[in-house]
This record gives sequence, C-alpha cells and structure tokens, in this order.
Amino acid sequence: MAKPLPDRRPADPKTYLITGPTSGIGLATALELARHGGVVLVGRDRGRLDAVRNRIERQGRHAVPIVCDLADLASVRRAAAEIIALGLPLAGLVNNAGIFPLRPARNAQGWDLAYATNHLGPFVLTEALLPHLPDGANVVFVCSGVEDPERRPAVLAGFRGGRYLSAEASARGEWQPGGSRMPGADAYATSKQCNLATVLAWARETPRLRFNAVEPGFSPATGLGRDANPVLRFLGKHVLALLAPHLKYWSTPKRAARVITRVLLDGSGQTGQYYDEAGQPMLGSILVRDPEFTARVVAETRALLARFPG
Ligand SMILES: NC(=O)c1ccc[n+]([C@@H]2O[C@H](COP(=O)([O-])OP(=O)(O)OC[C@H]3O[C@@H](n4cnc5c(N)ncnc54)[C@H](OP(=O)(O)O)[C@@H]3O)[C@@H](O)[C@H]2O)c1
Repeated sequence: MAKPLPDRRPADPKTYLITGPTSGIGLATALELARHGGVVLVGRDRGRLDAVRNRIERQGRHAVPIVCDLADLASVRRAAAEIIALGLPLAGLVNNAGIFPLRPARNAQGWDLAYATNHLGPFVLTEALLPHLPDGANVVFVCSGVEDPERRPAVLAGFRGGRYLSAEASARGEWQPGGSRMPGADAYATSKQCNLATVLAWARETPRLRFNAVEPGFSPATGLGRDANPVLRFLGKHVLALLAPHLKYWSTPKRAARVITRVLLDGSGQTGQYYDEAGQPMLGSILVRDPEFTARVVAETRALLARFPG
C-alpha cells in the first residue's frame, strides 16, 4: 500500500488572524504575516479568500480562509465559533477590515453599515476569541487619525473627528451635530474612534493580553475609496499613489503592512499604544485619551450587543 504523502507544510508553530486580507493594507499584511507563521484569513468573499490562500501556500505557509461578513452579527458569531473549533495556536489578531461608504447604508439589524462593519463586528469577533489567546498575545486594530478633530491632515481632507453620542445612536446612524459636510465622514470617523477607544479600554481591562493600535497612513490606491467617483479613483490609483511614499502622513499598503506586523510581533510587552505610519508612538484625540470615555464606549457597545444574543 502506498505511504501517505508527507504534509508539504510543516505545522506552523504560531498562527495569526487577520480580517480584510483580500485587498489593500490587509492583503499586504496577510502576505507579510505569512512570513512568520500560519494565517487565518477572515473575509466576506470565499473566492477572494481562496486567491489569497493560494498565494500564501505558494510561499510554503498554511492559510485558513474563514467566511465572515463583519457587518452581520450572526455571520461574525458563526465565524468566531468556526475559528475556535479549529483549535489553532492563535498568537495574535489583526483587526484590519473596514469600509468608508459615501452613502449611508444599513446592515441586517438595521444599523449603520460603517459602524457595524468597522466597530461592532470586529468587537464581537475579538471578544469571542480573547479567552482563546495565550498570555501575552497581541491584538492590533488598524485605526485612523481621522478620529481626531484636531489632526491637521484629516481636517484638511474634510473630517471633523469622531462624533460619538452613544453606541445606540451610532448604530442608528446619528452623530454629534456640527460634523463633516463630506458624506459618510462622521460615520467612518466615529467608527474608527470606537476602534481606538476599544483598544485603550481593553488594554486597561485585560493586562494578560496586549492591545495596540496603528494609524497606517493615507494609502490612496486601496479599495477604501471604492465609492468615490471614477475620476478620483483613477487619480488615487495612478497619481496620488506615486506621491504617497514621499509624503508625511501618507503610506503604501506594503509599508503599512510592515508597521502592523512589527507592532503585532513586538515582544516588549507594550500595551495600549497607538503607532503612526512610521511605527512611532502617537496620541489619539483628547476624547480617547480620557479613560472614562473609552470605558463608556466599551460598556455601551456591550450593552447594545447583549440585546442581540445568539
Ligand atoms: N487606505 C487608507 O488610506 C487608510 C487610512 C487609515 C486607515 N485605514 C484603515 O485601514 C483598513 C484597511 O483599509 P484599506 O484601505 O486597505 O481598504 P480596502 O482595500 O477596501 O480593504 C478593506 C478590506 O476589508 C474587507 N471588508 C469590507 N467589508 C467587510 C465586511 N463586511 N466583512 C468582512 N470584510 C470586509 C474588504 O473585503 P472585500 O475584498 O470583500 O471588499 C477588504 O479586504 C481599514 O480599517 C481602514 O479604515 C485605511
């Protein structure tokens, strides 16, 4: 009888999970992470996930695709259960997936789509996985400086910072008055402010693990601006992307991937840190620097989600 073929892939001693690995910064980060271990690829489209898995397996690494629509609570809970059942040696998580819709849209629960995709879904996924992470594991959120109403490049781009009223109001698509005139900007900035608030609150709550945030820099050629008009998209991809490596606050998916990976793998034990596009420590808005605010975001998010169990 023929001997079973040896497994081409040696067991990866460590496995890293990343959401949104099918495009932009997430794709570049998934490929970078694969140089350090196995990768769990969490995304909403099976075909696109398989394409990334194939690229990683050609590097001789193991990748597991998990279908998960982060905008849909039921899908997120199913995916979390599937990941836990795999029993992989998860050593770190990167919450990268995000959207910036220019027109308000709703998820299955009737909630604001950007808030659900960028904050609520990743919150549920991560809280479900935390008990399964070993001591010292690192959870990284890809955040955005647009949450800060005083950050000059964000203000010049038309943002007015996070406009948080409460988790419930955000889910209803309601933002603090006086916000941006750019469609979708208040929803996006508020959801990213909630990401950063969550990192800082969880770092205080759970010293057993590490929670850090990265502002990846403005990468004009990713899919984030897919709702923009075709002229702007063309400019982003073919003109602005060429300038990106040379400008402060700007970056490229590859460069962002290296920073995110460095923060994820850093063994110094740092927690509750926020890093800029060059991997240097930075400060968030005055609001997220207030522990009472960050604790309120987390408590209100949990209260909202508890009303939708199952
Ligand atoms: N680009 C920038 O300038 C910039 C600046 C600051 C922060 N960021 C942050 O960086 C992160 C990555 O953005 P990017 O620029 O790389 O954008 P991108 O190219 O559009 O990538 C977004 C990723 O998120 C996934 N995704 C979207 N909706 C999802 C859902 N409902 N469920 C599961 N996955 C979903 C996308 O999957 P599909 O392939 O299926 O669409 C894609 O893989 C985001 O969190 C963004 O806020 C970006």
